[in-house]
Parts: sequence; C-alpha cells; structure tokens
Amino acid sequence: MRMGVWFLKLAALYFLIGVSMGIVMEMMEDHSLAGAHAHINLLGWASMGLFGFIYLLFPKASETRLAKLHFWLYNVSFPLFMLGLSFFLSGNTSLNVLLMIFPNLLVISVILFVINMFLNVKAEDVTQLLKKSGNTSL
Ligand code: HEM
Repeated sequence: MRMGVWFLKLAALYFLIGVSMGIVMEMMEDHSLAGAHAHINLLGWASMGLFGFIYLLFPKASETRLAKLHFWLYNVSFPLFMLGLSFFLSGNTSLNVLLMIFPNLLVISVILFVINMFLNVKAEDVTQLLKKSGNTSL
C-alpha cells in the first residue's frame, strides 16, 4: 500500500519537473533537452503514476520483496539516468558513465515489476474488490 502511495507522490513531483522543463524549453527557444523532458514525463509521471495505481489496486503485489526492489531500483536509477541524459543532450559527455549503468538498472527494475505482476496479481483480487464496492459485473 505505502509503495503505491509513494509512487503516486513521486509521479506528481516528476510531472511538475517535466512540465516545468517544457515551459523553460519554450521560453529559451532551446529544445535540446526534449529527450530528457519526454522521458521525465513518460517514465516519471505516466509510468510511476501507473505503478502507484496498480500497487494500490493490488495491495498483495505491493507488499512483496519484488515490489520493494522494483521501487528502490527504479527510483535510484531513474534520476541518475535523467541526469546523465541531460548532460549528454546538452553536449557534455563527462557523465556518460551514468548512461552506461542506470538505464540498464532501470530495465532490470521493470523486469522485476513484470515478474511481480505475473506472480502476485490475481483476477480474484479484482473480483473481491468489485464485490466490496458493490459491483459484481466481472
Ligand atoms: C506544460 C507542458 C509541456 C510543455 C510546455 C512541453 C513542451 C515541449 C517542447 C518544447 C518539446 C520539444 C519539441 C521539439 O523540439 O520538437 C516537447 C517534446 C516532447 N514532449 Fe513535451 N511539453 C509538455 C508536457 C508534456 C507531457 C505531459 C508529455 C508526456 C506525458 C510530453 C512529452 C513529450 C514528448 C514525447 C516530446 C518529444 C521528445 C523528442 O522529440 O525527443 N510533454 N515538449
């Protein structure tokens, strides 16, 4: 449960960072960071928001060791990946080492998420949830 709430809070924060970057890119008439902006909005806001809702909908899946590993690996690798990408896109290669490590760790965290979904998300959980809310149409 807490994992879901934290994913939602961080998603909201990345949304603010992503749209602020968009505004700044427009004002400066410099779109060189468009790739980082797009990734912050999609991997930060959209994907983390979905992780949050999924973990809130399936609390059993959110309490596993896989979910904890997914959360921490994602939230350590994502900002460092974005930092490396932003440097690279602005022509500075001094942090390229971040791009060699953290995108790979981010993919590993997504693999853990997928395994967790397959192992710990069950149709019965949704049925129970709908029954509790009075909707039995599933
Ligand atoms: C206030 C909100 C936003 C502003 C002002 C903004 C602004 C921009 C700008 C200036 C570009 C560069 C366009 C170019 O160089 O061709 C861009 C690209 C992009 N934005 Fe946004 N954006 C906003 C919100 C979002 C959101 C919410 C998403 C996704 C959820 C998003 C996804 C993208 C994508 C996928 C690209 C293309 C990146 C690329 O071509 O490498 N943007 N945006």
